[in-house]
Amino acid sequence: MQPGGIGRTLRKPNMETIPNAQPARSVAESQSEMTELILPNDTNVLGNLLGGRLMHFIDLVAAMAAYRHSRSHVVTASMEHIDFIAPVHVGDLLVLKSSVNRVFHRSMEVGVKVWVENAHVNLTRHVASAYLTFVAIDKDGHSIPVPPLLIRSSEEQRRYDDAGRRREQRRQEHDRKRQNQNGSQKI
Ligand SMILES: CC(C)(COP(=O)(O)OP(=O)(O)OC[C@H]1O[C@@H](n2cnc3c(N)ncnc32)[C@H](O)[C@@H]1OP(=O)(O)O)[C@@H](O)C(=O)NCCC(=O)NCCS
Repeated sequence: MQPGGIGRTLRKPNMETIPNAQPARSVAESQSEMTELILPNDTNVLGNLLGGRLMHFIDLVAAMAAYRHSRSHVVTASMEHIDFIAPVHVGDLLVLKSSVNRVFHRSMEVGVKVWVENAHVNLTRHVASAYLTFVAIDKDGHSIPVPPLLIRSSEEQRRYDDAGRRREQRRQEHDRKRQNQNGSQKI
């Protein structure tokens, strides 16, 4: 299996010419999980988990996957497409899972899915999902290449393809904003 696609032959990275070159890693190698018990400090006056607190947990579990994959320092470049699907209550057990969807060059997209587990009634409910982009950096804060990702299942391939579409949308949005800024500077 080649990095970046099922049975697809991609250009093999030349380990001698890429600084910080590391071998390709599978999605499973960096998948991460975190469990949090929601306490009163995490909630609003109604006893519901604060959105900002949930975003903090999402950022942490996503950073774990990015760090495990890149084996370098990482910073969050963007967090997007957060869907808060259902409220989370004080006393709930929150389970967060993250995996690297796609590696670009110096950045990687990580997907996070969040569930609430209620052991009393034996129920697991999907409450949120998010996509984040992390950039690998060296100790001086300079961005560095991220090792390739090995895609080993059709599900991983679907996430890989979707991540490419989201990156293209981000690029278009970025270009549109820049054009608007240039336009607004004209008198
Ligand atoms: C993220 C950061 C390192 C990018 O620095 P930069 O000089 O713009 O980096 P570059 O232009 O060389 O781009 C490096 C990569 O980051 C990606 N990137 C930069 N800004 C991005 C953004 N807002 N969203 C998604 N990706 C972004 C680029 O697409 C590029 O990816 P690629 O190499 O895979 O194609 C810099 O903006 C930064 O330090 N931001 C603050 C991060 C931070 O403090 N986060 C919160 C705390 S962890």
